[in-house]
Amino acid sequence: MNSTPNAPPLQSSRSSQDEVYAAWLKEPERFWAEAADAVQWYQRWERVLDASRPPFYRWFPGGVVNTCYNALDWHVAHGRADQPALIYDSPVTGSIRTFTYRELLTEVARFAGVLIGQGVGRGDRVIIYMPMVPEAAIAMLACARIGAIHSVVFGGFASHELAARISHAEPKLIVSASCGIEVNRVVPYKPLLDKAIELASVQPRHCIILQRPQAAAPMVSGRDLDWSELMASAQPAECVPVAATDPLYILYTSGTTGMPKGVVRDNGGHLVALKWSMTHIYGVAPGEVYWAASDLGWTVGHSYIVYGPLFNGNTTVLYEGKPVGTPDPGAFWRVISQHRVRVFFTAPTAVRAIKRDDPNGAHVRRYDLSGFRTFFLAGERCDPDTLHWAERQLGVPVIDHWWQTETGWPIGANCVGLGMLPVKPGSCTKAVAGYDVRILGEDGHELPAAQTGNIAIRLPLPPGCLPTLWNNDEGYVRSYLSRYPGYYLTADAGYKDEDGYLWVMGRTDDIINVAGHRLSTGAMEEVLASHPDVAECAVMGVADDIKGEIPLGLIVLKAGVGRPPDAIAQELARMVREQIGPVAAFRTALVVQRLPKTRSGKILRGTIKKIADGMEYRVPPTIDDPTILDEITAALAAIGYPRR
Ligand code: COA
Ligand code: AMP
Repeated sequence: MNSTPNAPPLQSSRSSQDEVYAAWLKEPERFWAEAADAVQWYQRWERVLDASRPPFYRWFPGGVVNTCYNALDWHVAHGRADQPALIYDSPVTGSIRTFTYRELLTEVARFAGVLIGQGVGRGDRVIIYMPMVPEAAIAMLACARIGAIHSVVFGGFASHELAARISHAEPKLIVSASCGIEVNRVVPYKPLLDKAIELASVQPRHCIILQRPQAAAPMVSGRDLDWSELMASAQPAECVPVAATDPLYILYTSGTTGMPKGVVRDNGGHLVALKWSMTHIYGVAPGEVYWAASDLGWTVGHSYIVYGPLFNGNTTVLYEGKPVGTPDPGAFWRVISQHRVRVFFTAPTAVRAIKRDDPNGAHVRRYDLSGFRTFFLAGERCDPDTLHWAERQLGVPVIDHWWQTETGWPIGANCVGLGMLPVKPGSCTKAVAGYDVRILGEDGHELPAAQTGNIAIRLPLPPGCLPTLWNNDEGYVRSYLSRYPGYYLTADAGYKDEDGYLWVMGRTDDIINVAGHRLSTGAMEEVLASHPDVAECAVMGVADDIKGEIPLGLIVLKAGVGRPPDAIAQELARMVREQIGPVAAFRTALVVQRLPKTRSGKILRGTIKKIADGMEYRVPPTIDDPTILDEITAALAAIGYPRR
């Protein structure tokens, strides 16, 4: 054990964010040892941190835990059995269903028994491709219960994306549903799943399908099994103790190419970090209702719909609906009021959509929001206008906070549980304890306050962050650790101001954020380039009032292609929708004669983006032929760019 016996705790309940940060910086291992005391271990860790193999670090080696035990069993045994654990609120099906901790445990233990019955055991992978139904959370927790590794794939991804994940994760089993429901449209999942399995290089032994009444899925005999039938005859399974360092899940996230990165999360560090974050960052007490309006397919859904709130003994809300249209822009306020949500978390894009449809907040005033305490936003930088609108309408603190799939919990935040720091709109406030955030220049030197540079985090990353990429240690080092040895590269650019506040201004790679969904423009370019008429292409994220960014494609056709450009553009939009998914929101492919490039042949995507966004730009000194920029400006103007 590394904590000092009888020493006063580093994190007293009266410490401010700055004090707690300083305490962590001084004695990081003692800090995390104290946080780990809040977790239930079968066997306590031997060391807090194993730093013997840099740049690979492992938290709590020797520790033995079970994530599901901490999420459910422990609470059932300690007074929360009859407290609601999960409220499923689904305006798209017109249903609300509450599971107490005891009921959720019963379902999870039974589905864990189903998994065991299908031969799934510790270390096996299970892909979960489901809409926002409680069964998705049940499947995740059941995997955790038996030490299987889940990999949830967002339902808005199409077959090719799912196939890439199946091929890489090599799941023994896939859990899916007959359909999802998008406002007024039923999306059959099963054809997408069948196609993905056909495309994948690895076949699962079985698929377990939840048949929803909105659409029945035809089953493949011998391969597909019915969720309800299996559950009816299943025996509940107990928790399997696993090593703290064992993987809990893989979550694929967009990288710079078409192949997503398999972010790995361990059991022990994840438990410790998320438990700590619930009270210290979100300021939510056990027993209170906490709601993250995201999707289980994203990191927010993993951390703050399922694991964090359940570790902390909260009631979590699983919402199958949208901010607008299900049925109106008051949907979020209805849920907050009806379920007495104390702390709420969503993406700024959702607030912009609500503000567009209800600028004066008439829908806000329809509901009693007296129990609502704090509103958190993440997924993209929250523009000050949106933040002020939400503050004015809701009368609660609105907190922007910054994190990534890779970290799994916030890097920069205003830690409400440690007393609030003054809000500076546009900043995510300060680095959270655990993250030594530095702004580095191109040469690796730290930049002074107010100067923009690459945001990096000194190693080791805190518990809960990715220890590596699935089956790809080398890719982990190449993508994140090689640019500045000793640091994790966030691929975000920004600065710290004189007060130490962090300003995260945008990505330095080709990742874009479309309505809070992380997407790779490189992956979209791969799709466009596969069209037989396309010679060259470039995809950039351009500003959009609601979605923050949307992709814009510029294409050069092969010589001699005589087909109408509009027809080709439509085909390209369809291809991106079919191969990546509708969430990419790829609608515009503009045919141009040439693309601007440097003399060494690199396409000047950043300059094209600035032209499309109506921003000032300097003609790059390395440009091959500056007259192409005038052609691009004219072509973009012809389709209405810049839009603001
Ligand atoms: N399954 C199938 N299709 C899906 C899907 C899913 N799980 N999620 C989205 N889609 C589809 C939508 O139906 C839509 O299809 P369309 O092109 O036929 O209309 C497309 O993907 C784009 O969806 P979406 O990104 O949701 O955009 P929208 O225009 O329908 O709604 C917002 C805009 C802002 C209301 C919505 O994007 C939103 O709520 N965003 C918040 C995202 C979020 O919470 N992110 C997590 C980070 S915290
Ligand atoms: P994801 O992995 O989907 O969570 O996306 C992570 C990326 O979203 C980050 O690297 C940032 O570019 C962006 N992001 C998320 N939250 C914020 C925020 N509060 N401020 C600025 N950028 C953000």
